[in-house]
Amino acid sequence: MSRQIPVGVVDELAPGQRKLAFADGRGIVLFNIDGTIHAIDNACPHNGASIASGQLDGGVLRCPAHGLRFDVRTGCMPGVGGLSLTTFPVRAVDGKLVVSLEDPVAGPAPAPVGNSAP
Ligand code: FES
Repeated sequence: MSRQIPVGVVDELAPGQRKLAFADGRGIVLFNIDGTIHAIDNACPHNGASIASGQLDGGVLRCPAHGLRFDVRTGCMPGVGGLSLTTFPVRAVDGKLVVSLEDPVAGPAPAPVGNSAP
């Protein structure tokens, strides 16, 4: 059964901002990339370091531990295969941002919330 966890409110994050939330015992980092909200697990797939405070360049997040870079929009490392962030579906429900923890996705990200949504 899926768990739909509220982690914030719509319009809480301006473009370029991020937020660390906690849901169901895990850290989840929300990013507003160009008006679209993306959610990732706060654990680097390389060695499990917290990735929430990493340097963000566009949609690419640099892990503060060893410097690997991941595109938070897709979960993937730019340009090469290899490790992938765990991403979560996030959607807007009654003005709240709700993350689904039913099926974490390693690899291509699900459709995000934001300006590009239909
Ligand atoms: S733990 Fe993130 S790059 Fe090593």
